[in-house]
Amino acid sequence: MKRTMKSVIAALSMIALFAFNAAAGEVEVLHWWTSGGEAAAVQELKKMLQNEGHTWKDFAVAGGAGANAMTALKSRAVSGNPPTAAQVKGPQIQEWADLGVLTNLDDVAQAENWDPLVPKVVADIMKFNGQWVAVPVNVHRINWMWCNPEVFRKAGAKYPQTWDEFFAACEKIQKAGMIPVAFGGQPWQEATAWESIVAGVGGTDFYIKTMVRADEPSLASDTMVKVFEIFRKIKKYTDKNAPGRDWNLATAMVIKGEAGMQFMGDWAKGEFTAAGKVPGKDYDALTVPGTADAFLFNVDSFIMFEVKDAEAKKAQKAMARLILSPDFQIVFNVNKGSIPVRSGIAEEPFDAVALKSMQDFAATARTGGLMPSMAHEMAVSPAVRGAMFDVVTNFYNSSMSPQDAAQKLAMAVKEAKM
Ligand code: BGC
Repeated sequence: MKRTMKSVIAALSMIALFAFNAAAGEVEVLHWWTSGGEAAAVQELKKMLQNEGHTWKDFAVAGGAGANAMTALKSRAVSGNPPTAAQVKGPQIQEWADLGVLTNLDDVAQAENWDPLVPKVVADIMKFNGQWVAVPVNVHRINWMWCNPEVFRKAGAKYPQTWDEFFAACEKIQKAGMIPVAFGGQPWQEATAWESIVAGVGGTDFYIKTMVRADEPSLASDTMVKVFEIFRKIKKYTDKNAPGRDWNLATAMVIKGEAGMQFMGDWAKGEFTAAGKVPGKDYDALTVPGTADAFLFNVDSFIMFEVKDAEAKKAQKAMARLILSPDFQIVFNVNKGSIPVRSGIAEEPFDAVALKSMQDFAATARTGGLMPSMAHEMAVSPAVRGAMFDVVTNFYNSSMSPQDAAQKLAMAVKEAKM
């Protein structure tokens, strides 16, 4: 009898719990933040929503840059059962909005005054027909190289600013028995390094012509041939286990002093932070050679699907509001390695790399030199991006000549535009 009562009480308390949760609203959130730094960052959003009484149902799909997550999202949407919120970026936001399945977030935007707080270049990506349909989370910078000072010291190498200095450092690190470049051979990681080289070799105008306008003569030009030459040369300084390696495992090689450098966006800084490492002491962030004045940006964001349940709607709006709140912007971005996407946030909690990023973002925005990342879905359409990825990865993993690669790139992009 006692046992029966106990299970009834347990069952009742489950119902009470369930009832409370349902009343408070549940959000099922699709994202791909599963590495140490990423998980620490997204955990903060979960905590803040729970503090307001809502329930967080985690829908994490591992895989850098989100290709696996997008496949999972499409299959859930096709079966008529999309999650409440999903991490989606760039032109894909417009594509989802065009299907008429997204919640209009204008009421939150107005109440929280998003328009004057979010840079126009970012707000334009978040809006569809002038209405807010996505919430921006952060600004990541792509054109970084993460360096281990101890590896450089042991090798007698100095931090490079030009490509010649870069290859000179690689030679020394390799001679000293360490891996010069920690690399993960996955198409998105190859494209991430490659687009930074495009910016470094060609400069802002060339980057915009090729990675944003997808201008065919520029894609086939001698400058692009030079880009592929450098990309091929870098491969000599990676290790044989690079194919297929996840980006955070490559970052771990730099953290542990097995490798000297990694080309990666500043989500890599989240890994250093999670490992308790301090910039300027345990590691340094250099801009990719030739890109000191460039800022390749990548903005994470969430879209919200239209839901019927009133409480779920409330939870969704709470999530949108919290994401742009000053407290969240600080705690999330400190962990994630990115910088706040809205103005009016205290600089004090951020490290030297983040402060440099903030200054460079503001300065580059003033000169009109901000470059949206092609690899991270800020620039061209998904079809053109896919064509670029194919050529870059085929080139990197074969003996295709740099001349052929530039020709093929222009042709593949032309076809993808048709
Ligand atoms: C996202 C980052 C993420 C990285 C690695 C990028 O596309 O913007 O938030 O950390 O991919 O998965």
